[in-house]
Amino acid sequence: MSSERLAGKVAIVTGAASGFGRGIATKFAQEGAKVIVADLSEDAGKQVASELGGVFIRTDVTQKADWEAALALAIKEYGQLDIVVNNAGASYSNKATENVTEKEFDMCMNVNVKSIYMSTQVVVPYLLKENRPGNFIQIASTAGIRPRGGLAWYSASKGAAITVTKALASEYGPKQIRFNAVSPVVGVTGMTNLFLGSTDISTFVATVPLGRPSTPADIANACCYLASDEAAFITGVNLEVDGGRCV
Ligand SMILES: NC(=O)c1ccc[n+]([C@@H]2O[C@H](COP(=O)([O-])OP(=O)(O)OC[C@H]3O[C@@H](n4cnc5c(N)ncnc54)[C@H](O)[C@@H]3O)[C@@H](O)[C@H]2O)c1
Repeated sequence: MSSERLAGKVAIVTGAASGFGRGIATKFAQEGAKVIVADLSEDAGKQVASELGGVFIRTDVTQKADWEAALALAIKEYGQLDIVVNNAGASYSNKATENVTEKEFDMCMNVNVKSIYMSTQVVVPYLLKENRPGNFIQIASTAGIRPRGGLAWYSASKGAAITVTKALASEYGPKQIRFNAVSPVVGVTGMTNLFLGSTDISTFVATVPLGRPSTPADIANACCYLASDEAAFITGVNLEVDGGRCV
């Protein structure tokens, strides 16, 4: 038996050109999964895919046609799809909520919530038709359970991601499709400055009992566990990877 924890599995990881998504895609490939790197960012996405021996597809996670193309690519290249990691995310810069524009509100809801809707619209029917077990992981946020001011609608979008994950876990458990969320505390990625606003990261990190920001490896290790058969009886959880921030 292979010691690779994701051997034989095929995963779509969204937002895998950068930050946490890149870390997740890298870990999954190291653990034997075939990975579809799905991102808006073409140059960085292609680079990650070539490093991992995976394939890149330019994807806007808010668009159903892009999800259909990503599923078709997984089947063409690898014959199946087992895992979806909804990691791509968006936020406006930390600010007073009355100054958030409608465009910024829509961006948060579309990239952080509608993406989950689109992924399930496309991938769940495939899994049901093929009678395959499946596995969805949403990258939510500690902001979805312990919000601070300045990111109200981003926090709301992550709260929605966590709630829908639990609803879907309940609905599709009988079909052996698992849904879990992972909630990172602040990490050093392309989005960090948006979250912090005027707060220095050291001030924020002082509220984390384990005393440091999260890393892509922390998030990737949690996702690997949830995606693997080790977590075969785990569904509907929101796993806080936050050094104790939400205690
Ligand atoms: N960095 C943090 O502190 C932090 C904390 C908690 C949660 N998160 C969440 O982690 C996830 C990953 O973010 P990150 O911090 O690695 O940021 P990042 O900016 O490094 O990566 C985000 C990636 O998503 C891609 N993306 C954005 N919109 C897209 C779209 N519509 N379609 C496809 N791809 C798109 C970007 O091109 C980028 O490659 C997000 O969901 C974010 O909300 C981040």
